[in-house]
Amino acid sequence: MPVRAWFPTLIHCEPLQRAGLVRFNAELAEECRRLREFDAAGRRWSAKNYPGGYTSYASMNELHRFSSTFAGLERQLLRHVRAFARALDMDLRGRSVRMTDCWANIMPPTAAHSLHLHPLSFISGTYYVVTPRGCPGLKFEDPRLSKFMAAPPKLPGARPANRPHITYPAEAGNVILFESWLRHEVAANRVDEERISISFNFNWA
Ligand code: NI
Repeated sequence: MPVRAWFPTLIHCEPLQRAGLVRFNAELAEECRRLREFDAAGRRWSAKNYPGGYTSYASMNELHRFSSTFAGLERQLLRHVRAFARALDMDLRGRSVRMTDCWANIMPPTAAHSLHLHPLSFISGTYYVVTPRGCPGLKFEDPRLSKFMAAPPKLPGARPANRPHITYPAEAGNVILFESWLRHEVAANRVDEERISISFNFNWA
């Protein structure tokens, strides 16, 4: 085989746990909606920075410290983060890994989330709580895109791994993890119901 792939970009996607997801997601959804009612500062911030939607990103971004439901989510996510770090051959022996930020996102119809990355952490991700049929997925961008210079366009039938973007569908109960420097976005929600997700960052020490 004369051609081999190097410097891969890994993305982890898997159900959070084997059983009990429906009930757990119902609890999380209720807490997210209550949070929106209660968090006036977050609603104000969202009106300016997250048009049409609600996020607790700037107001309540340590939900795992205040809610036992979110603390339970952190415990489950930690297993996934450790497995993902192993797949990346990261040396975390004897080191602590913890969730530093955790916030809720509610996207009613028309809300979108433009291209961004997650500074000050090493692994970030999203957990899906409510995902009405047809709601937008999570779109990742090839991190080398700015270096492509004179590269020609890709063939219509290009293998997915060779395309400049990949979109993971949003599926309630699934957790998606990526290295925090990987840019991603969520297209506008074009269905009638709201989509609820929880985003988070992990760091090590
Ligand atoms: Ni993000």
